[in-house]
Amino acid sequence: MTALEKTALRFEQLGVSAPQDIAASFAELHSLAAAESAQIHGADSLESFRVKWLGRRDGICSRISENWLKAAPPEYKKSIGGGLNELRASLEAAIESAKSSGADLATGPAIDLSLPGVERPVGTHHLIRQTYEEVERIFMSIGFSVVEGPEIETPYYNFEALNIPEFHPARDNMDTFYIEGSGGHLLRTHTSPMQIRTMEKQAPPVRIVVPGKVYRRDNPDATHGYMFHQIEGLAVDNDITFCDFRGTVEHFVREFLGAKVKTRLRPSYFPFTEPSAEVDASCHVCGGEGCRTCKFSGWIEMFGAGMVNPAVYGFVNYDPKRLSGFAFGMGVDRLAMMRYGITDLQVLFQNDVRFLRQFP
Ligand code: DAH
Repeated sequence: MTALEKTALRFEQLGVSAPQDIAASFAELHSLAAAESAQIHGADSLESFRVKWLGRRDGICSRISENWLKAAPPEYKKSIGGGLNELRASLEAAIESAKSSGADLATGPAIDLSLPGVERPVGTHHLIRQTYEEVERIFMSIGFSVVEGPEIETPYYNFEALNIPEFHPARDNMDTFYIEGSGGHLLRTHTSPMQIRTMEKQAPPVRIVVPGKVYRRDNPDATHGYMFHQIEGLAVDNDITFCDFRGTVEHFVREFLGAKVKTRLRPSYFPFTEPSAEVDASCHVCGGEGCRTCKFSGWIEMFGAGMVNPAVYGFVNYDPKRLSGFAFGMGVDRLAMMRYGITDLQVLFQNDVRFLRQFP
């Protein structure tokens, strides 16, 4: 039997009746209650403390009142009643203070607030997404808007309307994935079909960039994958010249690789542009002196571009006599590799956090 139970029992059996006994008994109860309230830890223990002492039916205070106060001789009722009221008040105060100190919140062992917190890793955008966003930002700042299109295309949009008729050798280079049983649908081999889809829907002027995934039957290696990322550009209006083309391209290269970088256009061939060019940037690593990044040439090949071939306008009912424009198509994986000195394309797709973490 605990000390407390003994005391309670004594009260119930009316074993205390003299005034000094009454005072001593209440003092004993106060110190027991104080010792117990100091142990309160968590909502459950607070509640059992309250029920034990102040519970209506079976709490110690109710029992004192029922069994002792009621039966006490009239001359003791006042001191017992007063003592009981004081005990109740101090129990209530103990409960309030346990609540305000937060002791009712804690479960388990006390929390050490001085310990360092648990660090949750925060995700970031993938390097490819970051590169897309950077390219989009540069073109949006000069009036281009961003549009997206389907990854499953028809040969018409992927080839024909881009001036690549059937049996044109350019189709062979594209190593196309055809979708079985689809009646000739394919996975787009470039983002250029969105040039056609946009001009079909929209009257000039057009100024768009098109980010998206493209697919080719390449064997994966350090610079090839069967899926990769492009961003297409198209600007068409009444008075766009080769100078606008060149100026826009130079502006982009400087924004993307740095103000000191120079641009050069090399003649090239694409069926949907005439003339066509390959855009090179002076090597941003060595400044054009020659280094491993530029294979000691001082230049880095960046992307294909050109003035829109008038034949393309025929497919979208644009008037080739009134309109002119330029287009470009960039490999975003390539741009990211170039800018961050990455030598193996595959790391962009393996999603190893040790790699991704380096590009916060
Ligand atoms: N579509 C071409 C490709 O994948 C890239 C390209 C070159 C797009 C020149 C263009 C362009 O818009 O003008 O390989």
